[in-house]
Amino acid sequence: MTKLLVVATSNPGKLREMQAYLANSGWELTLKPEELEIEETGDTFAANACLKASGVAKATGQLAIADDSGLQVDALNGVPGVYSARYGKTDADRIARLLKELGNEVNRQAQFVCAVAIARPNGEIVLQCEGICRGEILHTPRGNGGFGYDPVFYLPEKQLTFAEMSPEEKKLVSHRGNAFAALLPQLNTILSAG
Ligand code: IMP
Repeated sequence: MTKLLVVATSNPGKLREMQAYLANSGWELTLKPEELEIEETGDTFAANACLKASGVAKATGQLAIADDSGLQVDALNGVPGVYSARYGKTDADRIARLLKELGNEVNRQAQFVCAVAIARPNGEIVLQCEGICRGEILHTPRGNGGFGYDPVFYLPEKQLTFAEMSPEEKKLVSHRGNAFAALLPQLNTILSAG
């Protein structure tokens, strides 16, 4: 049986990381049709991951995987949260807005959250996992790697932002890396479960 998963994302940064995380899993990833857009109407990361996986699985008739993720800043009561992608038009706009909202706030604690869901072709959710990574928001961006809010998300224990880490380093500590580490051991059970 072909181990094929349709990826329910149009974000190239997320796709790159998902491909790297599933590289040696024996699963082949294919991108969802560009015109197929599933509205993220859920108010949690998990709800949106399920909506996207289920919608893309039903529309394509294949197993589908979706990730919904975002940044929750403690001093902003969890904002931008599920609105992380909609917080500005470009990555630079989103970072600028975040830094403006935080201003000189002393509490810079924040976390990235990543929920992953896999759906069968009939839309039924067969697997769900969540990963978290805690860090701090810097006053100015640092580093050129990664995507999204990576240049302002700093891990004190590594003394690096996500944007200063290699993809391998980010995988070991990131919310998405943690979610996929929890998902991988369960991935093959969805085929045997029929
Ligand atoms: P969504 O999951 O498509 O709703 O988008 C989540 C948004 O959160 C992305 O567009 C990024 O702005 C942000 N985000 C999620 N994961 C990361 C990450 O690993 N690094 C930086 N930003 C991220």
